[in-house]
Amino acid sequence: MYIMIGSPLSTFIPVRPGAQALGLEGGAAAAYPGAMPTQEHFMAAQIRPFILGIGGTTRPGSSSERALAVALEAAAVAGAETSLIGGAELQLPMYDPAVPGLPHAAERLIAEARRCHGLVIASPGYHGTISGMIKNAIDYIEELRADPAPYLDGRAVGCIACAYGWQATGTTLVALRSIVHSLRGWPTPLGVGINSALSVFGPDGGCMDEGVRFQLQTVGRQVVEFARMQIAARAAPLPAAAS
Ligand SMILES: Cc1cc2nc3c(=O)[nH]c(=O)nc-3n(C[C@H](O)[C@H](O)[C@H](O)COP(=O)(O)O)c2cc1C
Repeated sequence: MYIMIGSPLSTFIPVRPGAQALGLEGGAAAAYPGAMPTQEHFMAAQIRPFILGIGGTTRPGSSSERALAVALEAAAVAGAETSLIGGAELQLPMYDPAVPGLPHAAERLIAEARRCHGLVIASPGYHGTISGMIKNAIDYIEELRADPAPYLDGRAVGCIACAYGWQATGTTLVALRSIVHSLRGWPTPLGVGINSALSVFGPDGGCMDEGVRFQLQTVGRQVVEFARMQIAARAAPLPAAAS
């Protein structure tokens, strides 16, 4: 079925049946014909994305864990179910791929990483890169290598780096985003670098800097937005390419 778009570049755009039934044949649906939602997309949109947050340090009042909480809160406001695994739970034994089975302490991390639709990872900058504790937690994601969605495949990952100065903030953020890429994840367009030398978090853990709060909330929302797109895309996959 085709409709005419009334613009100087008038052309015929195919309308997928579900989209027309939903009255979506004009407007944004016409502007992005390849992305036109169908009934399957709308059914997929009813699924509540599950977003997992991993991050922090062993330090009480950890700024990276506080930043993670702000991003996850925004994800929850955007309609996601969220879970935060912070510094206290990330003190895991060194990951050893040769040891069969998971240590008890890592079971929650792997169970939640396996079922999540997206993640937020927050690391401190230690000597210019992510901390050993966060890297060790990420190493456990190797356990997902044989899953139908291996590693972080199909998941957006919001990245947050906190360091006591801008230089390590930048290098840590770049390192974290590179790790996410290597795990087949999709770093969100915005990553957040926080200079913890500037008092960003108040005694109650709240973010006192409006700009930082906005960035953290944006990352949380971007992860949910991408999760919804992925859920919809998998519910109504593209037809196989002609050979
Ligand atoms: C072992 C270690 C190494 C660090 N290396 C750096 C660094 O290279 N550059 C920097 O700006 N801050 C460095 N810091 C400071 C931390 O990045 C900073 O305090 C950060 O806010 C810690 O995260 P947290 O607030 O979540 O505990 C280091 C701290 C520690 C404990």
